[in-house]
Amino acid sequence: MSHEDTHHHHHHRLLLLLFLTVLLLLPFTTADDSSVMSKLLTTLTPPPSTWTGTDFCSWDGINCDNSKRVTAINLGSKSLTGTLPADLNQLTQLKTLSLQKNSISGDLPSLSNLTFLEKVLLDANNFTSIPNNFFLGLSNLQSFSISDNLNLAPWQIPTDLTQSSNLQSFEASNANIIGSIPDFFDNFPNLQSLRLSYNNLTGSLPESFGGSEIQNLWLNNQKQGLSGDVHVLGSMTQLYQVWLQANAFTGPVPDLSKCGNLFDLQLRDNQFTGLVPKSLMGLGNLVNVTLRNNELQGPVPEFRTGVEVDVSSNSFCLPAPGDCDPQVTVLLEVAGGVGFPASLAESWKGNDACAGWTFVSCDSSGKNVTSLNFAKQKFSGIISPALANLTSLRSLTLNDNNLTGVIPKVLTTLPNLQLFDVSNNNLSGPVPEFGRSVRFSHDGNPFLGQTIASGPGGSPGTVPSSGGSGGSGSGSPKGSSVSAGMIAGIVVGVVVFIGIVLFVFCKCCGKKRHQKFNRVDNPEIGKELVKPSVVGSSSNGYGGGFSELQSQSSGDHSEMHVFEGGNVTISIQVLRQVTNNFSEDNVLGRGGFGVVYKGELHDGTKIAVKKMESGVMGTKGLNEFQAEIAVLTKVRHRHLVALLGYCIDRNERLLVYEYMPQGTLSQHLFEWSEHKTPPLSWKQRVSIALDVARGVEYLHSLAQSSFIHRDLKPSNILLGDDMRAKVADFGLVKNAPDGKYSVETRLAGTFGYLAPEYAATGRVTTKVDVFAFGVVLMEIITGRKALDENLPDERCHLVTWFRRVLISKENILKAIDQTLETEDEETLDSISKVAELAGHCTAREPFQRPDMGHAVNVLGPLVEQWKPSRPEEEDGYGIDLHMSLPQALQRWQADEGTSRTFDMSFSHTQSSIPSKPSGFADSFDSMDCR
Ligand SMILES: *[C@@H]1O[C@H](CO)[C@@H](O)[C@H](O)[C@H]1NC(C)=O
Ligand SMILES: *[C@@H]1O[C@H](CO)[C@@H](O)[C@H](O)[C@H]1NC(C)=O
Ligand SMILES: *[C@@H]1O[C@H](CO)[C@@H](O)[C@H](O)[C@H]1NC(C)=O
Ligand SMILES: *[C@@H]1O[C@H](CO)[C@@H](O)[C@H](O)[C@H]1NC(C)=O
Ligand SMILES: *[C@@H]1O[C@H](CO)[C@@H](O)[C@H](O)[C@H]1NC(C)=O
Ligand SMILES: *[C@@H]1O[C@H](CO)[C@@H](O)[C@H](O)[C@H]1NC(C)=O
Repeated sequence: MSHEDTHHHHHHRLLLLLFLTVLLLLPFTTADDSSVMSKLLTTLTPPPSTWTGTDFCSWDGINCDNSKRVTAINLGSKSLTGTLPADLNQLTQLKTLSLQKNSISGDLPSLSNLTFLEKVLLDANNFTSIPNNFFLGLSNLQSFSISDNLNLAPWQIPTDLTQSSNLQSFEASNANIIGSIPDFFDNFPNLQSLRLSYNNLTGSLPESFGGSEIQNLWLNNQKQGLSGDVHVLGSMTQLYQVWLQANAFTGPVPDLSKCGNLFDLQLRDNQFTGLVPKSLMGLGNLVNVTLRNNELQGPVPEFRTGVEVDVSSNSFCLPAPGDCDPQVTVLLEVAGGVGFPASLAESWKGNDACAGWTFVSCDSSGKNVTSLNFAKQKFSGIISPALANLTSLRSLTLNDNNLTGVIPKVLTTLPNLQLFDVSNNNLSGPVPEFGRSVRFSHDGNPFLGQTIASGPGGSPGTVPSSGGSGGSGSGSPKGSSVSAGMIAGIVVGVVVFIGIVLFVFCKCCGKKRHQKFNRVDNPEIGKELVKPSVVGSSSNGYGGGFSELQSQSSGDHSEMHVFEGGNVTISIQVLRQVTNNFSEDNVLGRGGFGVVYKGELHDGTKIAVKKMESGVMGTKGLNEFQAEIAVLTKVRHRHLVALLGYCIDRNERLLVYEYMPQGTLSQHLFEWSEHKTPPLSWKQRVSIALDVARGVEYLHSLAQSSFIHRDLKPSNILLGDDMRAKVADFGLVKNAPDGKYSVETRLAGTFGYLAPEYAATGRVTTKVDVFAFGVVLMEIITGRKALDENLPDERCHLVTWFRRVLISKENILKAIDQTLETEDEETLDSISKVAELAGHCTAREPFQRPDMGHAVNVLGPLVEQWKPSRPEEEDGYGIDLHMSLPQALQRWQADEGTSRTFDMSFSHTQSSIPSKPSGFADSFDSMDCR
């Protein structure tokens, strides 16, 4: 300070100055609080009896700090009436405001900018309004309650609340809230209690509930009723008490098997439909369930003894537990395929499908279902293979809906079928062959009948992939010639692949600067490797031989889910127009798949159009296109890039995405100077990492079925104007199998990010993405690319180098991106935690890597830590959880145990791998750049 400098020279003037300063400042600091406090003394009627004298710090219920600033007002249950002074937020040191259970009335004052405020309890009073900026800047708010204030003017849950990232409990039942529940719950990693019963909230449950830590969710008894389905509960794994009763929710009760702590589930008085999932009955901690007064169908659920349960007033098939009639069982499974729509639930009750169920007709005996007519019902979902059990079925009309997935091949076995109409849907996969007696209409399904061509010379499409019981005579010779071709294909593929790898190796480490080589998924190899599994799955009856995604789904139809909301098809003319006829000027980027263009619609909405030419890409482009559509329609998450629509124009396949104005993470990390943008701050980087972790976590475990991205890297991470990130490019996504099993798959992805076991064996689990995420973290820390041909050999492969640097405790500071400010402890500490995480994520063995949930947990607090921090304040519980960098390194090393030298040669694992994929191991070996 300048006082220090002037001290010796201007001793007297300084004293005078100090004296004046004290004179001026002291009265003001205390005067602020004393003026507010004396107002409070007059606005509260009657004031607490002990509130006498001018020393408000000694008043009952008031706590002050050393400088006589008020830190707490504790006046709960004091029978107070009156109002609060409008300038209450001048008490800038306030941490606790506790006024519950009084009869204080009038407008609430704003609490904006009370950055120390942690606890605000206002419930059971008679306040009349909440000002708009009430929650502005409450960055330390942990608990808030305003329940039971019946005279509040209608208000909405304000978005300012997102600044309160430490929020643990928000309680506003019976408080006249209107509007929808904002979709911002990924801002509150610590929120455990959300109580909003008895309001007039409308709309559906926000997606951001998914993956939250909420334990107590009270949303019951909304006046008009919350609506929509409640699938998001399935991913709220911490749920303990769920009160959704007396609303207007629809759709089926979701699978809550991940919510192992669930104790109390109140779903009564809604419009839930469908079967009660068996998994609900298996929840060990559940003791209280009400399902009363819904439209639940199927067998009456049977809970274990000790569970208090009310299932009355539903549409169950029987009055008591027991199996439904077989035709009823089948029809309910069919209804499940289209998401148990309300229109069916109203009619499909009881145990006799011939008792006048809508869309169902029976024969003259009134026993056997002969016709099912779903035409033009706006149904979306799949055609259930269970239909094959309705053996009397003569007419099946499903036309003009939004059905997706494959036409179950097993339907060809229906002996009495005469009419089968699936026209004008969104079905895909092979067209099954029905007998001559069946009138089969399937026009208007753009993806139907498109199959993988079986390599050069192979005949596409129409060759039935499994002749099965039918024409067995000509089947076998054909089969053997195909498999000979396949073996040849594998050999060729492996040779080509090794060639590519050698090529990349030269490019990477030979310091040849020109020509970058990013993507190494050779379509030929991919095709041949995936083939065995496709053949395998086609033998199970329906489907098969199509794309990976579909063949896998068709193998286990429980994996198929109802797609919500139809895709929007956009005409090629429109896309030409908005992209200025795909002008070079509009190119946003290029990849192995094609070119991405920027476009602008008439209303100013910006879009990104990804144009893939199957002529160039062969079948792979087409498969990726279909895979992407199938996946993206299923997956919606704020950290995943949304698909807005698509277009098919002869050979061209186009996808329309939301436009991400700030481009790729890659540009911001590695090319910021070319793009004339400032380098990313550490705060931005951690926040981006957390966004990515959340998006990928959703893909892995939170989406209704699990997916693996397989090509996570900075150029697939897109940024919005707020520098929040979304994960893009699901072209390589593949439906993950349940459980831990890995799928053998074609090798896709990008060198530098490939997990060792993936490169070596082609087997993929979610841990492949965790590895790639670890690499991205390293890039975020170092500002270096996963593979950098400009660097000397020992540094060109980032993972190897980074792990080596960390383990040998070589100067870590050298590894950190030069553009980052690393002066302060906090940043270094944060970096070291991310470095540690990156190390764990890139562990050699998949089982040593954490799952993405762990990454979210590690990164979450680091992002919060970066909210504006308090200036000084030593109030006893300062955060001393910070580890110094050396400590962090030490711990990390300890965690690593004995495996001290990590190198990227996998020669030991290689020996146990069958001959075919060893080419991968060899090639990966060379990535060590030694
Ligand atoms: C809160 O702080 C912001 C920025 O520091 C300021 O612009 C605003 O006027 C303050 N609001 C109130 C109500 O004091
Ligand atoms: C709440 O305030 C209203 C006036 O705003 C008054 O009429 C009513 O009696 C008060 N209720 C209670 C419980 O104090
Ligand atoms: C609840 O809110 C809806 C829509 O905001 C409104 O139409 C309705 O009148 C409200 N109901 C009550 C009882 O306030
Ligand atoms: C179950 O819920 C009902 C209604 O909410 C309540 O009365 C009852 O005490 C609860 N039972 C248990 C065991 O918690
Ligand atoms: C359909 O029939 C098969 C074989 O008879 C049986 O295994 C299956 O459970 C039936 N499916 C339904 C939904 O009834
Ligand atoms: C109804 O179906 C059963 C078995 O599917 C069959 O045995 C019976 O003959 C059918 N009844 C009529 C009237 O067609």
